Amino acid sequence: MSKAIAAASGKGGTGKTSFCANVAVSLCALGENVLLIDADAGLRSLDLVLGMDTGLLMSYADVLDGTCALSDACVRHDVVKNLSVLTAPASPRVFGAEEIKGLIKLAKESFSFVIVDCPAGIDGNVTDFCAACDKAVVVATPDRVSLRTAQKMGLLLRERGQEDVRIAVNRVRPDMIKRGDALNIDESMDSAGLSLCAVIPEDKEVIACGNSGSLLIFKNKSRAARAYYNAAERLLGNNVPLLRGIGKKF
Ligand SMILES: Nc1ncnc2c1ncn2[C@@H]1O[C@H](COP(=O)(O)OP(=O)(O)OP(=O)(O)O)[C@@H](O)[C@H]1O
Ligand SMILES: [Mg+2]
Repeated sequence: MSKAIAAASGKGGTGKTSFCANVAVSLCALGENVLLIDADAGLRSLDLVLGMDTGLLMSYADVLDGTCALSDACVRHDVVKNLSVLTAPASPRVFGAEEIKGLIKLAKESFSFVIVDCPAGIDGNVTDFCAACDKAVVVATPDRVSLRTAQKMGLLLRERGQEDVRIAVNRVRPDMIKRGDALNIDESMDSAGLSLCAVIPEDKEVIACGNSGSLLIFKNKSRAARAYYNAAERLLGNNVPLLRGIGKKF
């Protein structure tokens, strides 16, 4: 059965787009047929991170306006053939909750996984996308400001009827945790009041690959690449440890 997952956050820049792109590529490596929807209307970025900044002409707004069929608006990745991207409109647009629900339902008919990269905060259609999906992942960094906004986001999404809300703790630095300069994973979960679905280490390769549009999954030594892959396996229901292959420092 097809699944849809939305990534959201209270605070900006926590790593939602990196999470969506890399978990999607990992799911493709695991044999899934994945659609990534960029829901950041007016400020899209998935295309750049995936090296697809040319060729994404039609957006989900064109699909909802009836200008174009979903199949025509989705563009396949050059290298990862079972990955398609549906981009966001270039200018801000807000649709009704039912229209967003219809879009996700339609996408689930053609893809085994649909992953939605939301903008930060709660403006526009963020809560509509999260409510329309089967699961919402709040991506947060292990600091008090990010975690407090993650907690608020979790409460809000539950109010909107999304019962499966989890946290992905991103940019984790064991050295800082050890020194007491950053919250550890348990403290992060407690602070956000959310159960865990991913732990992603701080890793320069995430930044380098995002800048070049190259695929992190091919970086054998990247600990973040392994963490995204583990998260993808868990989304498929495989009970692998979140920190498998990442090292003992955590
Ligand atoms: N695990 C990580 N290690 C190192 N850098 C990271 C990691 N995750 C994300 N980054 C970097 O942090 C920056 C913000 O990431 P990203 O664009 O994924 O965040 P976002 O939550 O989508 O931002 P926005 O709220 O603007 O949409 C990028 O430069 C990205 O490369
Ligand atoms: Mg983003």
